[in-house]
Amino acid sequence: MKSLIELLEIEVKKAFVAAGYDEKYGMVTYSNRADLSEFQCNGALAGAKIYHKSPLIIAKEVCEILQRCPYFEEVNAFAPGFINMNVSPAYAAEYLNEMSNDSRLGCEKNSNSRKVILDFGGPNVAKPLHVGHLRSAIIGESLKRILKFMGDNVLGDIHMGDWGLQIGLIITELKHREPQSVYFDSDFNGEYPNKAPFTISDLEEIYPTASALSKENEEYRNEALYATKELQNGRRGYIALWKQIMAASVADLKKNYEKLNVTFDLWKGEADADPYIAPMIEKMKADNVAHIDDGALIIDVSEPEDTKEVPPCMILKSDGASLYTTTDLATLQERMEDYAPDLVLYVVDKRQDLHFLQVFRASRKARIVPEKTELTFLGFGTMNGKDAKPFKTREGGTMRLQDLLTDVRIKMEEKIAENATITGDEARNVAAKVALSAIKYGDLSNQAAKDYIFDVDRFTSFEGNTGPYILYTIVRINSILNKYKENCAQQSSDIIGTYKILPAGTQGEKALMLEASKFSETINFAYEELAPHKICAYIFNLANLANRFYHDTKILTESDSEKQKSYIALLSLIVRVLEQCIDLLGFEAPERM
Ligand code: ARG
Repeated sequence: MKSLIELLEIEVKKAFVAAGYDEKYGMVTYSNRADLSEFQCNGALAGAKIYHKSPLIIAKEVCEILQRCPYFEEVNAFAPGFINMNVSPAYAAEYLNEMSNDSRLGCEKNSNSRKVILDFGGPNVAKPLHVGHLRSAIIGESLKRILKFMGDNVLGDIHMGDWGLQIGLIITELKHREPQSVYFDSDFNGEYPNKAPFTISDLEEIYPTASALSKENEEYRNEALYATKELQNGRRGYIALWKQIMAASVADLKKNYEKLNVTFDLWKGEADADPYIAPMIEKMKADNVAHIDDGALIIDVSEPEDTKEVPPCMILKSDGASLYTTTDLATLQERMEDYAPDLVLYVVDKRQDLHFLQVFRASRKARIVPEKTELTFLGFGTMNGKDAKPFKTREGGTMRLQDLLTDVRIKMEEKIAENATITGDEARNVAAKVALSAIKYGDLSNQAAKDYIFDVDRFTSFEGNTGPYILYTIVRINSILNKYKENCAQQSSDIIGTYKILPAGTQGEKALMLEASKFSETINFAYEELAPHKICAYIFNLANLANRFYHDTKILTESDSEKQKSYIALLSLIVRVLEQCIDLLGFEAPERM
């Protein structure tokens, strides 16, 4: 289904042709002077130079033709040559009725479905999730939903950091605590115990302890580095410990991501790419793509047109250790072999942009990724505290994700308690849903690449551009619809579904209808630009107009039943649009709040 503005543009283009001009001048945009008109076309101004005619005369000629078109209520030519248009209320209503009848609300899937690997989340095993991982989870989950909705075949891959020094640190600390354990006995060749010698809460204490020790004690750090190397070389006891660390961490991560309404199709990590490293390096050497420089193996990735220096991509350090770039290249090798995706999309902190530039260029040079596979890095900005510095706890430490979620949930519970109608388990569930909307919307309403300030008070407000405000609007509309079902009509949803939206009777109703009609173009834009914030901006406008509409209009007490049915049909559509949009953003509305 074409969008309303596209349908109008077709008519304007036809009018340009009928008046003897090229159709390319018939481009229609939303008016930037909403007080003057809803739509505008500036083509007469551009055409004037080509046709050596006054732009106002061209505009008038086109207007005369458009005035006969039933899709428009009003068409005017304005000096020096603008064409201002208002859509006819009947045509707008017809468009919304068509939208209502479509299960996708008029938004067609992309005609060529792509195979996409979406690399997001990126937690580091055994380290607690911190707020830095929050943005990747939130933005990635929303993009996953948008891409799937638009018809792409998407695999979300968590890509855990599960093979690095943090594991070596834990092994080292465990060894210091229990040197006698079988895991450290290199002569042991029996079966290792099924039960891990630690719990997840032990790990949460062990890792920071080990990490602090390694910073103050060089010997300890070298031990950890060596343990990491032995793990990567496959030492049996260490692999057994690694598997147990993984099992405990993954179970914990799953629980945490579940609270965020974030899921992954693949639970792979850096360790899975390890077997691909040796053959990849062999091939890079054989193809003369990589060369030794000062003992290290590197690939030159600078290009003549670079304005800033792009340093070589290091594949192996001089001591033979692999690096972050090595695992990412090997992971691409693995992904190409397993899935041959059309696009690999990374949602990672923008401070890693140089890393990805190097990896992408090296992957092309080494022919790991063919030209036809797109590689995209979506770098997001930092989540800051009110002091505009990276978000910290009150004590100045790194904020753990779990604590942040709990803080916001408690705040929401307090607000909900003020509204005494909801209590007990329901109140807790509602608070959890609203809290999630506060966090996610607070994040997603900013352009991903920008830094933003995490302001709990603002994000949890029921007023203004916030998640709770959007949920509140949905709950309000649903409550009107339910009251209608109970009191006025005793009608089932099926029958209500056959109600038709009539032409708008007021400016406010028309403005709401026009905003609703922008659903498909908004989703398409968010999809093409990987920009969930466009959906936020759209639903904020839509929610404002909807609130105004039901404040200004008596709905449940309307005596003209045809009019009332039309209001109900319109609100049913609006709430479907809002619910579809928040689903694409990754949160949901409670039944009441
Ligand atoms: N684990 C990394 C971090 O915490 C993020 C991983 C991003 N994905 C990737 N393929 N490099 O910074």
